[in-house]
Amino acid sequence: MKEKENNKNKNMLKSRIDKSTGFEKRFENAGTVVYENSIEASKAVAKEIADLIKVKQAQKQPCILGLATGSSPKGLYAELVRLHKEEGLSFKNVVSFNLDEYYPMEPDSINSYVRFMKELLFDQVDILPENYHIPDGTLSKEDIADYCSQYEAKIKAFGGIDLQILGIGGNGHIGFNESGALQNSKTRLVALDHITRVAASNDFSGLNNTPRTAITLGVKAIMEAKRVILLAWGERKSNIIKASVEGEVTNRVPASYLQEHNNATFVLDKAAASKLTRINTPWLVEKIDWTDELIRKAVLGLALHLKKPILMLTDADYIENGMSDLLADSGPAYDINIKIFNKLQNTITGWPGGKPNADDSKRPERAEPAKKRVLIFSPHPDDDIISMGGTFKRLQEQGHEVHVGYQTSGNIAVADDEALRFASFVCDYNDKFGIKSEEAEAIYKKAVAFLKNKKASEVDIKEVRYIKGLIRRGEAQSTCYFVGVPDNQIHFMELPFYETGTIEKKPLGEKDVKITMDLIEKIKPHQIYAAGDLADPHGTHKVCLDAIFEAAKRLKPKKFMKDCWIWLYRGAWQEWGIDEIEMAVPMGPDQVLEKRKGIFKHQSQKDGVVFQGSDSREFWQRAEDRNRETAELYDQLGLSHYAAMEAFVRWKY
Ligand code: F6R
Repeated sequence: MKEKENNKNKNMLKSRIDKSTGFEKRFENAGTVVYENSIEASKAVAKEIADLIKVKQAQKQPCILGLATGSSPKGLYAELVRLHKEEGLSFKNVVSFNLDEYYPMEPDSINSYVRFMKELLFDQVDILPENYHIPDGTLSKEDIADYCSQYEAKIKAFGGIDLQILGIGGNGHIGFNESGALQNSKTRLVALDHITRVAASNDFSGLNNTPRTAITLGVKAIMEAKRVILLAWGERKSNIIKASVEGEVTNRVPASYLQEHNNATFVLDKAAASKLTRINTPWLVEKIDWTDELIRKAVLGLALHLKKPILMLTDADYIENGMSDLLADSGPAYDINIKIFNKLQNTITGWPGGKPNADDSKRPERAEPAKKRVLIFSPHPDDDIISMGGTFKRLQEQGHEVHVGYQTSGNIAVADDEALRFASFVCDYNDKFGIKSEEAEAIYKKAVAFLKNKKASEVDIKEVRYIKGLIRRGEAQSTCYFVGVPDNQIHFMELPFYETGTIEKKPLGEKDVKITMDLIEKIKPHQIYAAGDLADPHGTHKVCLDAIFEAAKRLKPKKFMKDCWIWLYRGAWQEWGIDEIEMAVPMGPDQVLEKRKGIFKHQSQKDGVVFQGSDSREFWQRAEDRNRETAELYDQLGLSHYAAMEAFVRWKY
C-alpha cells in the first residue's frame, strides 16, 4: 500500500516532467519541474523524501539519503523538520551521506557543514547520530585518500544512495566537483574554483579567509544514486540551468552529466527556469496564445538577435524565426513593428514624476498632481543613488517632495579598520575640543580590543555594529545633501530583520511591516520607488521588498493609496529585461557624472568592499555600465541614443 503511494507520488512528479518537457524534448535533455516559488518546490521535494522514508520503513529497510548544504536546500530541510514535528515523520531509519565539507574545517566552526546540517536538520529530527555522515575536515592530508575510499565503500555497503539532493554552483558544479571534473571522478580532495570561493567568501568575511580546498563525493558516486534531485532557485542560477539542461554534456558544466542519469530531475523555481527555451521563447517550442507581453518580448528579442532596429524587421525575419503565426494573426511585419516601436518609445520620459500640463495618456506617469510626494525606499544606504541616482536627482530638481526611507543600517558591510578610524576620530575630536567623554573613550577601547582579536567570521559586538551603522548613515545623509533632500525627509528605518550581525538575516517580521506601514502612512506618497529584486530568493533586498508589498497590501483600503503608484528599480546586480521596462529615464553625459559623485559619497563601499561578490567592478562602475547598456539597447532598437538610462517597472497591487 505504502509502496503504491510512493509510486503514485513519484509518478506524479514524473508525469509533470513529461508534460512539461514532452514537446520541447529537442531543447531539454533532462527532466525539469518548475514551481511558482522555492517554497512550493521545497515542499514537493520534502514530500517525495517523506514518502520514500515511509516506504522504506514499511519494508523495514534503511533509507539512504545523499544530502547537500548551501542556500538551496534550506527550505527543504525546514519542511522536513516541520513534517517531523507536526506530522510525526520519523528519521530513525534514515542513513545520510553529505556531499562535501570544506578542508580544513573544524566541525564546530561557524561555517562547517557539520554545524549547518546539525542546526538545520539533524538536531531537529530523530535521526540517530551514528547514521549521518559528513566528510571529515579535520583529517591530516595523508589520510584523506583512504578516508574517501571508505566513505564510498560505506555508501556501497548500505546498497547505494536511494535519493541524492544537489544544489548547483554558478559554474555548474555539483558537490564540489568543479568545472573540469570527470564523469568517473572519485570522492576526493579538490581545489575550489575561484567562482566557488567568491560565492562563499561572504560567509567567511572575505576571500582571504575562504578555504581553498574541500572533500567532495565524486561525480561517479552521485551518478550511481538511484534518484537525483537538483534544486535551483533564483535568476542568478538561470544561465547555468539552461546550460546544464539544454547544453551539451561536458566536463565544463558537471551538472550536465545528469542528462545521462535515468532518474534525475531539476526542480526549479520560475526565476531559475526563466532562461529555458520553452519559458524564455515559448513560440520556438509550441503554438502559443500571443499576449501583448509575449509579442513585445518576441519582437524586441528578434530585433536584438538579428541586430536590426525594430522598424527594419521584415516578414521573412518573422517567418524564419518561429513567429509566422504571429505574422498571420497581426501582420504584416510593418504593423507589428510600428506598434512595438511606439510602445517602447512611450516608456522614455525625462519626467519621472509626470510632466505637468502635458497630455499624459501615453506617458508612464500621471501629470497630476504636478508636485508629488515621493518616497524612495533604499534597502541598503546606497541603493537609492546606485540604482536610480539620475531619477532621484531629477525628481528633486523637478520640485517634488522627495523622501528617502533607508530600510536597513547596512552595518555588516563596513570594514573593521573603517570602524576603528571613526571611533578614534571621536576620541581625537573630544580631546581637541576639551570634551571629556569617558564613555567615548571606553567604547573606543572596547572596539579596539574586540577588533584586534576578532576571529574570521566572528560576529561584531554591538558597539562595533553601531559604529559601522553610523558610518553608513552619515554617507547616506551626505548623498541626500548632495541631491538636495532636507533632513526631515531622510528616514532611517533600521528594520529589525537585518540586525543579526551576520549575512544570515531573520525572516520578515511583523515589526518590519509595521515600521514600513507607518512611514508610508506618514508621507502618503503619490509615488513609491522600491528595489524590485523579485527573483532573489534570499537576501536583504527581497525581504525589504516583501515588507513594502505587505505594507501596501494592508494599506490598500486607505484613500491615499488609490493615488499611490509603486515603481520598481533593480538592485546593483541586474537590470529589467528590455521587454519589461515601463519607464526609462534618460541621462546625458553630465548627469552620469553627477550620479557618480553621488555614489562616491559612500566611501566605505569603495575600493575593495567587504562584500565584493564575483564582480570586481566598483558599484559606480557597475551602475554606469548597466545604465549605458540599457541606453545602448534602446539605440540598437532604433530609438534615440542617450548616454545612460535608468529603468523601472510598475507594480500593480
Ligand atoms: C553544497 C554543495 C554545493 C552547493 C552549490 C550551490 O553541499 O555541494 O554544490 O550545492 O554550491 O550552493 P547554493 O545552494 O548556496 O547556491
